[in-house]
Amino acid sequence: MSFSIGSVGRSGGPNRALRSLANENEKEGRAFDPHVTRRLLAFLRPHAVKMVGAFVLMLLATGLTLAVPYLMKVAIDGAIATKDAASLGQICLAMGAAFVGLYLTTAGQRYLLSWVGQRVLATLRLRLVEHLQRLSLGYHDKNIIGVTISRVISDVAVINELLSQGLITLVGDVLILVGTVIVMLTMSPRLALITFSVIPLMLIATRIFSGHAKSAFRETRRSVASVIGALAEDLTGMRVIQAFAQEEETQSRFATVNEANRDANVQAMSLSFVFLPTMDFLGVLSTAVVLWFGGRAVTAGDLTLGIIVAFLAYVTRFFQPVQELSQLYTTFQQAMAGGERVLELLDTVPEVPEPETPAEMPPIDGRIELDRVYFSYNPETEVLHDVSLVIQPGQMVALVGPTGAGKSSIANLVGRYYDVTDGTVRIDGIDVRTVSQQSLRRQMGLVSQEPFLFPGTVADNIRFGRPSASQEDVESAARMSNAHEFIVDLVNGYETPIVEGGVNLSVGQRQLVCIARAVLADPRILVMDEATASVDTVTEALIQEALDNLLKGRTSVVIAHRLSTIRNADIICVIQDGKIVEKGKHGELLALDGVYKNLYERQFIGADEPVEAAEISQ
Ligand SMILES: Nc1ncnc2c1ncn2[C@@H]1O[C@H](COP(=O)(O)OP(=O)(O)O)[C@@H](O)[C@H]1O
Ligand SMILES: [Mg+2]
Repeated sequence: MSFSIGSVGRSGGPNRALRSLANENEKEGRAFDPHVTRRLLAFLRPHAVKMVGAFVLMLLATGLTLAVPYLMKVAIDGAIATKDAASLGQICLAMGAAFVGLYLTTAGQRYLLSWVGQRVLATLRLRLVEHLQRLSLGYHDKNIIGVTISRVISDVAVINELLSQGLITLVGDVLILVGTVIVMLTMSPRLALITFSVIPLMLIATRIFSGHAKSAFRETRRSVASVIGALAEDLTGMRVIQAFAQEEETQSRFATVNEANRDANVQAMSLSFVFLPTMDFLGVLSTAVVLWFGGRAVTAGDLTLGIIVAFLAYVTRFFQPVQELSQLYTTFQQAMAGGERVLELLDTVPEVPEPETPAEMPPIDGRIELDRVYFSYNPETEVLHDVSLVIQPGQMVALVGPTGAGKSSIANLVGRYYDVTDGTVRIDGIDVRTVSQQSLRRQMGLVSQEPFLFPGTVADNIRFGRPSASQEDVESAARMSNAHEFIVDLVNGYETPIVEGGVNLSVGQRQLVCIARAVLADPRILVMDEATASVDTVTEALIQEALDNLLKGRTSVVIAHRLSTIRNADIICVIQDGKIVEKGKHGELLALDGVYKNLYERQFIGADEPVEAAEISQ
């Protein structure tokens, strides 16, 4: 089942996510891993008092559950048989009290467990998100979003199920089983042993069922992952689907995975339709055994009637814990596998580590120095080779060169989104690896090729880098960025909500908002990676003007396609195959008659730049 529609973003799109989601669920884990359990239990520690409370309530409930059939026996043998109305009344009162107690302890225990459970769930998710934010871009490059999301959502949920319900249910069920066996043996060892002859049948049935159930439920999980994956792919590729009129084709592909999921669910459910009646049948069988053998013992005068009634009650209480325990096995297995994945994520160390004792980056002037820098994203291919470059405070450097040359990589190193493999990057003479990443990036601005807006209002998005900014600050930043005019024309102006992905604004408008965001943050160093690459010429002129305002008095690294941006640069670096091959001012580089001239002639003299081309040739 493999299909793909156009290009659906990085990492091979949701199709890969889908496959690996399915694989993750495919893993058959152990039901108990002491190491994982110990680390997960640590999340319960802050709630120890409540957990102990829930445990005590569980013990009480178990005791009361076991007591009720016993009271029935006492009522029948001790009061009814002896025609003692007074003690019958007392016993009935005691039984009523036992039921009320059972109700209260069970309710209290459920309340405590869900209280703790929801807190553990929230804490664990928060810890994961905190950690994900600390992880370097390198991690996010390599890991599929869908898989990370399934860790934060589903894995955390099964862990919660184990920690809050699973452990206590396990102990409670085992206690009930052991308690029932002991009480029955004490009341009548012979009848107890005869009744227990049904247990092997029950165990065999449970075993057969759970064997089939495991693969059936694995299939439902796998197929639901396919449905989610197909849906994600269809939604992401909707524009392409409609453009190529592939709706029907896509729909029939979706129908296939959807039906597979339906069949898997029916299959899994029909198993329980067989299993539950089987268990009921065994319950009836054991009742019959008690009635037959017990009844004969009573007629022979070996047993009392009360014991038989108590036995009948105990027998019905025997099956629920057995069923629960057979399901718990799966819960434990899933929670161990999920726990392992969550802990693995929490244990991932950022590829760009914080220094042991991170110093704060002092307020910077804006001198950037790349000193014999080598860099690679992965050990196989080196992307930058021996790059050296000094940018003085306030200077503007333009990086030009063919796609894949390494321009964005240089920009990434300046903000320390990645670490160099060899050499040093210094800001104001300070090695960027010695200061805290936050204190460094707080003083840097980034405007990238894909303007990213968060859901929220336009004003929220501009305010992103400086949440304390006043409305006037936001507006003046928008004015400087040429964004103000179009924003006030929006229906709700600055309060216009941004739709997910910012699609209710044009790409150019989004870019202007991003520039306003950078203006408001007022960084000393600004990195602009192809900020004008995907907009029309009119918007580009607006952006260009905004940029001129923005770049004034700052150190800037600008990666641009357009000559108008580059021409005024203090230094132009031509990057090719990860090396700086030419460096100088526009005129100097043209005079060199080398790579720049060649690039310039091929790339910059486009149909959209005739005037500038003419200007240059004068
Ligand atoms: N996140 C990444 N992981 C692995 N390789 C990458 C990554 N980003 C870029 N590369 C590779 O590094 C090289 C330089 O890319 P980049 O700096 O983005 O080029 P440019 O910005 O000049 O077009 C390319 O060969 C590209 O395939
Ligand atoms: Mg690039």
